[in-house]
Amino acid sequence: MGRPALGHRSPEFKTVLERVFPALQNVFRTRQPVLLYTASGTGAMEAAMVNVLNPGDLVLSVCCGVFSERWAEVGEAIGCTVERLSVPPGQANLPELLEARLAQDTDKKIKAVTLIHSETSTGVLNPIHSLVHAVRSHGALSLVDAVTSLGASPFYFDQWGVDVAISGSQKGFMIPPGLSFLAMSERAMAVHKSCKAPGYYFNWTKTLKAQAEFTTPYTPATHLILALDEALKVMETEGMEAIWTRHHQNQLMVREGVKALGLELFVPEDIFASQAATSVLPPKGVEVSALRKHLKAEFGIIVADGQKSLKGKIFRIGHLGYIHQRDVLATLAALDKTLNALRA
Ligand SMILES: Cc1ncc(COP(=O)(O)O)c(C=O)c1O
Repeated sequence: MGRPALGHRSPEFKTVLERVFPALQNVFRTRQPVLLYTASGTGAMEAAMVNVLNPGDLVLSVCCGVFSERWAEVGEAIGCTVERLSVPPGQANLPELLEARLAQDTDKKIKAVTLIHSETSTGVLNPIHSLVHAVRSHGALSLVDAVTSLGASPFYFDQWGVDVAISGSQKGFMIPPGLSFLAMSERAMAVHKSCKAPGYYFNWTKTLKAQAEFTTPYTPATHLILALDEALKVMETEGMEAIWTRHHQNQLMVREGVKALGLELFVPEDIFASQAATSVLPPKGVEVSALRKHLKAEFGIIVADGQKSLKGKIFRIGHLGYIHQRDVLATLAALDKTLNALRA
């Protein structure tokens, strides 16, 4: 990223994109094109909705926290009618609930269902394969937020029949924020063709046309794409299956470690726990803010607070991306010392 600027229409940059586009398909496990946007993950969420939905369309938003709720907010912002199907924070969205709601929709009013794989605000991992299957059986489009699951948990865009999936650069791709990615099925593409106002900057047709020639429709964040090129090489060398296994092992280490420290997990069942972040309840008498301050000041380790209604109620240990056992052990040891210091 420290290299001098290079022209985004130069042959050198085209060569980078010739590597990046197929490598992104490998991460999404798809033969479909993966669009690259200069925007954070939320930009890709908007891109997903605006390209297939018209104002007034009915969207079912399956919610379990801040980021799944964001889908609903984006839908409302572009003029859709949004119905939420929510569970309390810390719980996973189960297919049975979704199937029951979709079964009531006999006249097929629901055009799209928004889903989240890993809900970063709570540390929940939803059974996304089954949820997508339920949506597919109904006939609506499934729009999946894979921001903190791609590059952490198994994800098979084509095999699972996902219609649209989005992710962002600062998560499993391990580079700074500013890029996002979007894969779309042929079904979603067909719906896009009849979309009345598919926007301009995020427009799939414009982006696809440029990407077919290994360029971008507008000036992209060239240096982030150089970083992405390197990150994708690192990911390809390790291999997606090995990356998922490493995340699973780190996640289990974190979960077992915090339990051994006498702490309670916010998501009790391993199968519904995110492989990107683990949410933990602070022990009685210890403030989350004090715990975070001590960990940062004494050990240079940053853990996140809860968001919105969970602020001060949980803290979140991130274990996404370039993380190895040593980092997990250091964090657990620092947490142990921090708890001792704060309880003293
Ligand atoms: C699951 C999930 N979805 C969406 C977003 C929003 O992405 P961004 O902040 O890159 O716009 C985030 C960000 O943390 C996220 O974790």
